[in-house]
Amino acid sequence: MEKDTVTIKVNSTGKQADFPLLKGTHGNPAVEISSLNKELGIFTYDPGFMATASCKSSITYIDGENGILLYRGYPIDQLAKNSSFLEVAYLLMNGDLPSRQELGAFVNEINQHAMLHEALRGFFDGFHYDAHPMAMMVGVVGSLSAFYHSELDMNDPEHRRISAMRMLAKIPTIAAASYRHSVGWPYVYPRQDLEYCENFLNMMFSLPSQKYIDEAHYIDPAAVKALNLLFILHADHEQNASTSTVRLASSTGANPYACIAAGISALWGPAHGGANEAVLSMLDEIGSADNIPKFIAKAKDKNDPFRLMGFGHRVYKNFDPRATIIRETCHEILEKFSSDDEPLFELALALEEYALKDEYFIEKKLYPNVDFYSGIIYKALKIPVDMFTVMFVIARTAGWVSHWLEMMAEPTHRIGRPRQIYTGLSARDYVEIAERK
Ligand code: SDX
Repeated sequence: MEKDTVTIKVNSTGKQADFPLLKGTHGNPAVEISSLNKELGIFTYDPGFMATASCKSSITYIDGENGILLYRGYPIDQLAKNSSFLEVAYLLMNGDLPSRQELGAFVNEINQHAMLHEALRGFFDGFHYDAHPMAMMVGVVGSLSAFYHSELDMNDPEHRRISAMRMLAKIPTIAAASYRHSVGWPYVYPRQDLEYCENFLNMMFSLPSQKYIDEAHYIDPAAVKALNLLFILHADHEQNASTSTVRLASSTGANPYACIAAGISALWGPAHGGANEAVLSMLDEIGSADNIPKFIAKAKDKNDPFRLMGFGHRVYKNFDPRATIIRETCHEILEKFSSDDEPLFELALALEEYALKDEYFIEKKLYPNVDFYSGIIYKALKIPVDMFTVMFVIARTAGWVSHWLEMMAEPTHRIGRPRQIYTGLSARDYVEIAERK
């Protein structure tokens, strides 16, 4: 089939050139414009990257109009129903679902890497007890680059694989330790006999003094099931802000742990992963369904910086399929764990119902996203609100390391270096201070 092209013509100069139109498996084709500057002496301008493909990737596909999300071709609802977080992490990192034996080996290797270098614990002592856990995550994950650097050969695929496994294995240990530091409890070491989410809950909530209370006391199978589901749903989402940050940092050849720390920093923002924590604060501020109209009006007011947290999405202009799955799970979890959070859930349902009937939200195609309901489940599992984005970090580490592996395996990947439209002053001469006004 003849290759398709796009012709770009600069009307003022009459210069024009044809550029290849690249087509993937699904989704919009993209015009390949890397020679645009050479051919026509112009750049493209796309603040926020509304219509810019930064790379080719075979990991995740999102169809925003139809609310479709595929991980390596598997629909998110099927993975949510049938898989586990580590099986999905294997899928994202390796491209296909593991055999029973491959999964067993993967889980064992993750368990072997789950412990931290003992010296790392000292980093937590440098934080005040009320430091935000995300601040601790950025600092401690970045410090892993001090423990795994000199012997790391990023041109060696096996070194890259082990680095990715170490990151995925250690992130829950670091996350739980940041919580333990904030409450002044002793750190709990990961255990080889526990499943990934069981280990995390054990490191979060077990106490040495409760040694003889049976473990079901804090490792409830329903909680483990809910965490696996939430981690699966948050594991990857193509070129979102934090994944793009990891890719851009990695394009310079920087240490992978430092690049993941950069991704954690980007995820923290309330416009991105920080939204799950912001939703709970917003629901607390709204307080009751009677106040919903007032807050919807604030969200619509251009002069008011207030936004309806957990609503809207750059790609989904239909329901976020992850939000739909989480909403369905909320009822089940709240019935099991904490009916006293039912009013919070009822308020969220009422807010969603009100917003989805409002002309502004309909016209701008603003629907609940993955962050709208996730916090309600985390709260029911007794995860503190300031740990909600940390939970997102644990899950998204699977996506971040998968994109890192994909990018680093490319025979030729270039440093990411966008251009700009310069709006500053033209050249001018230096003025001696005595002559300045
Ligand atoms: C995540 O990219 C990903 O894939 C992210 C993520 C992932 O898995 O990695 O899905 C996770 O980050 C989900 C999003 C969590 N953030 C929030 O819930 C915060 C609230 N949402 C908004 O900040 C916003 O919707 C964004 C940031 C999510 C999307 O921003 P865009 O794509 O830049 O859209 P926009 O800000 O240009 O909004 C378009 C219009 C604007 O109005 P106009 O200027 O056209 O008049 O919709 C309005 C916005 O003002 N709008 C909202 C709104 N979201 C958008 N108005 C009120 N409340 C909102 N929540």
